[in-house]
Amino acid sequence: MIRSPFHFRIRNLPYICGMAKIKTAFICQECGTQHIKWQGQCSGCQAWGSLVEEKLDPRMSGSKSSAKPGKSWTMKSAPKPLSEIETSQEIRHLTPDAEMNRVLGGGIVPGSVTLIGGEPGIGKSTLLLQLALQLAPLNILYVSGEESESQIKMRAGRIAYQNDNLLVATETLIERILDFMDELAPQVVVIDSIQTMYTEQIESAPGSVSQVRESTARLIRQAKDRGIPMFLVGHINKEGSIAGPKVLEHMVDTVLTFEGDQHNSYRIVRTNKNRFGSTMEIGIYEMMAQGLREVSNPSEIFLSASDEQFSGVCISATMEGMRPLLVEIQALVSPMAYGNAQRSATGFDLRRLNMLLAVLEKRCGFKLGVQDVFINITGGLKVEDPAVDLALICAVISSLHDLPVDPATAFAAEVGLSGEIRSISRLEPRIAEAAKLGFKTIFVAKSQVASLGKVSADIEVVGVGKLEEVFRRVFGGE
Ligand code: TYD
Ligand code: MG
Repeated sequence: MIRSPFHFRIRNLPYICGMAKIKTAFICQECGTQHIKWQGQCSGCQAWGSLVEEKLDPRMSGSKSSAKPGKSWTMKSAPKPLSEIETSQEIRHLTPDAEMNRVLGGGIVPGSVTLIGGEPGIGKSTLLLQLALQLAPLNILYVSGEESESQIKMRAGRIAYQNDNLLVATETLIERILDFMDELAPQVVVIDSIQTMYTEQIESAPGSVSQVRESTARLIRQAKDRGIPMFLVGHINKEGSIAGPKVLEHMVDTVLTFEGDQHNSYRIVRTNKNRFGSTMEIGIYEMMAQGLREVSNPSEIFLSASDEQFSGVCISATMEGMRPLLVEIQALVSPMAYGNAQRSATGFDLRRLNMLLAVLEKRCGFKLGVQDVFINITGGLKVEDPAVDLALICAVISSLHDLPVDPATAFAAEVGLSGEIRSISRLEPRIAEAAKLGFKTIFVAKSQVASLGKVSADIEVVGVGKLEEVFRRVFGGE
């Protein structure tokens, strides 16, 4: 929006002259910084064109409270010793969805507010509607500001769960939603999405920073007062973080993100913040025609079922959060097709691939500078765990020499710049997962073998110190 300087002079005149109290501010929609005047660039986050004029209300949360001390705090908010405080937080409601229980830290805590963010179309509404349907016989209020009643009914028809206690409302006004909560006394509330909601107390448009902040604050207050757990859907912006002010993530108890690859049916729920549990947990689902299916044994989906032996394929025992996961790493090494050797990696950091190829070239003498190298992590997974280094290097050498690796062999070690095999975190659960899936041998760092706890007798744990030792054992005499 282009505005003339004259426009601002007139509009801001009362503020500058001190004739009236400031009632509007220009708020950055990216970071929430307030400015008295409009300007092209936000002074907080340096974003361009992100300032929007919003009316400020003195009753908004964050402004000074008018409550008089002395009277109001005597009863409920009076300070008391820790030992006298009753906890309701440990009474969690276990849902039938084991993946959701896991990411929430062991079930739904009464009065907790959970925010779920994710790309459009990834399945946030499906996940929450499915959860609401599964929570029978609890009374659920599902408020949608995005879809019509019949669209929600159609979606529910695809999901194979029934819940007669699920009440659906298509409403966007916070005051009315709070009335519904008063009258209907639901046991769980779902709001889809917080960016479509607005409160009458503020005049700016739904989705603007102050609307989102104030609407969330009012919902949270109600959830806490009544002990009703609440789930909020949050849109994400182009940078991938939840749209609106960062303060939204500070206000809620739990922040989950729902991620996945557009071309793949697997979806991962990650815990980014959790006041009631670990943030290391992930939940894995598969998007099916009948809604989301829980994936309780994720390793199986990331390993291909083929019995044939191919060169360039190696299995790595990685960790996703707290869960061990066996993933297949595929490499294709072929003589350079054009003037420059190509390097490409799907699901793996390209810089780390270049580093590992340089280690192979310099420390082990493989001539990879004249080869194109392509890496793929199957299942659309993105792996950042350094423990995949050794499997990746073996996949590259396997493809280079066209020598398949024994499919019953797994790898779990980092590779250092001098070609040394380095130790990694949480080795025992990785070995246990590999043993559970029938792997017979796992290569790990020699330095870790001595301190290793008890592991399954079905798998041979081979400690190696240098890359040459690995190649000798895996490919024989390399
Ligand atoms: P949706 O929950 O609407 O995503 P969001 O709320 O995050 O925008 O998910 C929509 C996608 O999920 C849509 O592309 C269709 C797909 N889908 C299925 O594959 N199976 C199903 O049973 C449902 C309900 C949706
Ligand atoms: Mg949706």
